[in-house]
Amino acid sequence: TPPVVRRLDSTTIGPTAANLVMEVVRGSDAPVIGVATGSSPSPLYAALSAEKGNFAATRWFALDEYVGLPPNHPQSYVKVLEREIVEPLGLDPSTVHVPNPHVDDLEESAADYERLIAAAGGVDLQVLGIGRNGHLAFNEPGAALDSRTRTERLTEDTRRANERFFDSLAEVPTHCLTQGLGTIREAHALLLIAQGSGKAQALHDALHGPITPRCPASILQLHGNVTVLVDEEAAALL
Ligand code: GLP
Repeated sequence: TPPVVRRLDSTTIGPTAANLVMEVVRGSDAPVIGVATGSSPSPLYAALSAEKGNFAATRWFALDEYVGLPPNHPQSYVKVLEREIVEPLGLDPSTVHVPNPHVDDLEESAADYERLIAAAGGVDLQVLGIGRNGHLAFNEPGAALDSRTRTERLTEDTRRANERFFDSLAEVPTHCLTQGLGTIREAHALLLIAQGSGKAQALHDALHGPITPRCPASILQLHGNVTVLVDEEAAALL
């Protein structure tokens, strides 16, 4: 089945995405939800806060984390997810997993994260944003379509895109730990959220361009269970 694209008013994207997440949460004894950071999924997490207290059995896995920030830095994704989901959704913090960059051996940490996902039975529903260069998680253009969790260097474009969360470009980390495209493809279902004209070209390339490492999000075409929620601006070139 090709990706299902739903064009929505930007105010309905969050509640629509939350309904899809809650179907999975209610449909399993041990649901596993993959979560993205960035601004795209924020309306989803805001809508999910109405379900606070209904996530006791749910486990959560982040897509990625910066390497090189102090552990308590407010822009580390472990802290972002504390603010975006742990507190508003009333989650037990031990159910929310983020790749750990605070170790000597990052490759070992990446392998540990893969094992943790596998031990949870895999991801049932993976929430995704898309970078304006077509990145998924921190899989930048050039990433292998079957890549696994690993360290990556961030592109200049991505660092500039994320500069808004920091005081200056120099403070934006240069490296990260990220789930690979192969890891992401193993999730049972994918839910991509994209808003704004800055995502229009990347979304077009992801859904209608060639399947190529030049556009990491083109792996969406290789997955049979993808829902894309977009506003009019992001859908402009579809
Ligand atoms: C970030 C994240 C991605 C995210 C993307 C888009 O850097 N690592 O997981 O999907 O870039 O971010 P935004 O939703 O803020 O546009």
